[in-house]
Amino acid sequence: MAAAFDLVLKGGTVVSPTSVFVADIGVSSGVIAAVGDLTHASAAETVNVTGLHVVPGAIDTQVHFREPGLEHKEDIESGTRAAVAGGVTTIFEMPNTNPLTTSAETLADKLARARGRAWCDHSFFVGATEENSQDLAGLEMLPGTPGIKVFMGSSTGPLLVDKDATLRRVMQNGRRPMPVHAEDEARLRHLKATLTPTHARQHPDMRDAEAARLATSRLIRLCAETGRPVHILHISTLEELPLLRDAKLAGLPVTCEVTPQHILLGEEDYERIGTLAQMNPPVRGGAHRTAILLAVQRGLFDVFGSDHAPHTLEEKAKPYPSSPSGMPGVQTLAPLVYDLALRGGISLTGAVRMLSQRPAELYGVARKGLIDKGFDADLAVFDFAADFEVTKPWLQSKCGWSPFEGRRLKAKLIHTLVRGRFAVRDGELSEAGRGRPARFTWKPHAV
Ligand code: DOR
Repeated sequence: MAAAFDLVLKGGTVVSPTSVFVADIGVSSGVIAAVGDLTHASAAETVNVTGLHVVPGAIDTQVHFREPGLEHKEDIESGTRAAVAGGVTTIFEMPNTNPLTTSAETLADKLARARGRAWCDHSFFVGATEENSQDLAGLEMLPGTPGIKVFMGSSTGPLLVDKDATLRRVMQNGRRPMPVHAEDEARLRHLKATLTPTHARQHPDMRDAEAARLATSRLIRLCAETGRPVHILHISTLEELPLLRDAKLAGLPVTCEVTPQHILLGEEDYERIGTLAQMNPPVRGGAHRTAILLAVQRGLFDVFGSDHAPHTLEEKAKPYPSSPSGMPGVQTLAPLVYDLALRGGISLTGAVRMLSQRPAELYGVARKGLIDKGFDADLAVFDFAADFEVTKPWLQSKCGWSPFEGRRLKAKLIHTLVRGRFAVRDGELSEAGRGRPARFTWKPHAV
């Protein structure tokens, strides 16, 4: 008799966005075919996951993988390897590579580079510029892109849309939710001209809370004017939270992201690790962190993303402010968020919602983000009773470091499955190169 399933994960504790329950998961042809008691079902392979937790693979909607042009920091192979090593099964990659991803050709180039090399499913943002602003409605609908990314403030690379007139044009040319790096460029330039910093601890002054507040309020105003859905990335300040809450209460199509580092790192980390804690927007002091965590608990935030932005240790060793901004994070994203949940900071179901379900829903990713019949078998299996230390040998990113090295986590990744195949098995990397472009079924007003 032919096996009913290719694979059964037996006896795991499944975490959904609303509940936690023990169930077997049957997989056929890369898709979840059954969730329930499969004691009497036949399977080509059965893997016992009793005592472990099974969550939907995380969808990291903000990573920088540096290929093409900056492969000494990371490439698509190493970046996606780091992803699956941390339970991420789909990534959305950012356009500030060299060349920039600002056209159909540069998008097609990234998709071709990923073929046969990516460990997980993927898609690549197109960056908005003054020059391509009239073409964005067409570009955002190309297969293999989740849409258009905007930098309102300069960060790594030259992408920038800082004037309201251009931003308005960008927002009017297209309809999909648009992720935005919201720091006010004029304010950043003013601070740069005024201050002469010598240590990374001054980074939060160089890119202050007012820069974030100004950009976020301008963006929400333009969202109200144009109706374009905006997704505000890596919120870092106390001051932005009431703006986001009011926008949501008013029914505007505004969503927002939080990173683990804006909750877990703070001012003291500039003293501990110097420029390794430097990113844009900056990690900030206690009041911001506390308020952001409270806002996560109250459901203000839609998604967790990592803003994985690797730079080499040599580059980071340059004296501040010549040191580049950004830190790796795709591999630590889900372990840190689940650790936070296990320590009572947020709920487990909320963690699943923000790591998997909401990212899929927000961007309209087909068949991902849930453990349910008919969904891709993108699964992460964790030991939630572990005492696991983040160490260099565990890290897969080419940059070879993490600001979280030495941290002990209760969540240890055991298996990662990408469409039913083990990318990580028993904590060891398994099958490479099986990633495919994510598919989108985005419909207007699905936010
Ligand atoms: O710190 C950052 N680094 N923030 C960004 O927005 C870009 C990123 C990078 O690409 O290095």
